[in-house]
Amino acid sequence: MRTPQHSPATAVVPSTSLGSSGPAVSALGLGCMGMSALYGAADRTESIATIHAALDAGVTLLDTGDFYGMGHNETLIGEALRTAPPAARERAMTSVKFGALRTVEGAFSGYDGRPAAVKNFVAYSLQRLGLDHIDVYRIARLDPAVPIEETVGAIAELVEAGHVRHIGLSEVGARTIRRAAATAPIADLQIEYSLISRGIEAEILPTLRELGIGVTAYGVLSRGLISGHWTNDRVLGADDFRSVSPRFAGENLQHNLRLVDALRTVADAKGATVAQTAIAWVLAQGKDIVPLIGARTRERLAESLGALDVTLDADDLAAIEHAVPVGSAAGERYPARQMAHLDSEI
Ligand SMILES: NC(=O)c1ccc[n+]([C@@H]2O[C@H](COP(=O)([O-])OP(=O)(O)OC[C@H]3O[C@@H](n4cnc5c(N)ncnc54)[C@H](OP(=O)(O)O)[C@@H]3O)[C@@H](O)[C@H]2O)c1
Repeated sequence: MRTPQHSPATAVVPSTSLGSSGPAVSALGLGCMGMSALYGAADRTESIATIHAALDAGVTLLDTGDFYGMGHNETLIGEALRTAPPAARERAMTSVKFGALRTVEGAFSGYDGRPAAVKNFVAYSLQRLGLDHIDVYRIARLDPAVPIEETVGAIAELVEAGHVRHIGLSEVGARTIRRAAATAPIADLQIEYSLISRGIEAEILPTLRELGIGVTAYGVLSRGLISGHWTNDRVLGADDFRSVSPRFAGENLQHNLRLVDALRTVADAKGATVAQTAIAWVLAQGKDIVPLIGARTRERLAESLGALDVTLDADDLAAIEHAVPVGSAAGERYPARQMAHLDSEI
């Protein structure tokens, strides 16, 4: 039996294809957001060591957004890439989100998907990353004032110019996906997907599969809630997303942690950790789905990569879904004012 808790992957992370038009990427990506924003303080040295360890293990896909720490996350990734061994740097691919508008105080004030803005955003991102191209570029949320054809068309021009390699989407619904795909080849949709966020299964995932578009799944651990490490006495800073997330609030949290207890029983029987089981469940939903792991320490990274060693058969999947039935989570995945920006929820 495998040792639960921190078993690292025994092999190099396998590769998969990001949709029929996208690049070959590692079967797990590293989401770097928490190294700069939204989850409380992070340690810069450990963050860079985590990126290096991920690249060393064979993770090739690094996900970020230009608004994560208002540029901080891109400069961090830039430094990690500059200081990585040349072969690892060569393998690394960046997936960058743009378009979120911020105030001096850090508040989010809307989205800008106008073509001129797209070309402005990418220029700053390339500078901060220290790269001459971005591998997958996407607007973080649909700008309701700009047709998706114009935003995607602007990225297609960046592809033509060599500044971007592939076009992605984020948190949009089936109609927008079809319009985008009719404009230019789309590599992937980035969207929340986990045992407790299964909304994409009804319409979005079938649409993506019909069109040959991959998925980069975030929130696979529901921002730590279903990681097995969350406790109900955790104190959150005001700038921590989870302090406003309905799923982490009051009775909802108690309910959701009972789901995690049930999941732990299944994980224990498999000799895996809760986090590994939750990640392995997403991996088991299809090779076209690449979980983005939000690890920001080498310890969490090693645990996450251990998910690649967890094989779930039909009985295991049934036991997991019995422990955490579809739709069983209490609370929406975002506060109401942020839900309003999700084209994927319309
Ligand atoms: N397109 C979008 O709208 C969107 C939205 C959100 C995120 N994303 C992307 O997706 C990435 C991952 O998303 P997420 O933050 O929601 O990820 P997540 O993996 O669901 O949650 C990450 C949190 O889980 C905790 N955790 C506990 N055990 C862990 C383990 N073994 N491995 C990793 N984390 C563990 C970490 O806390 P500690 O560090 O405290 O241990 C971290 O705060 C982000 O970095 C970002 O690149 C995209």
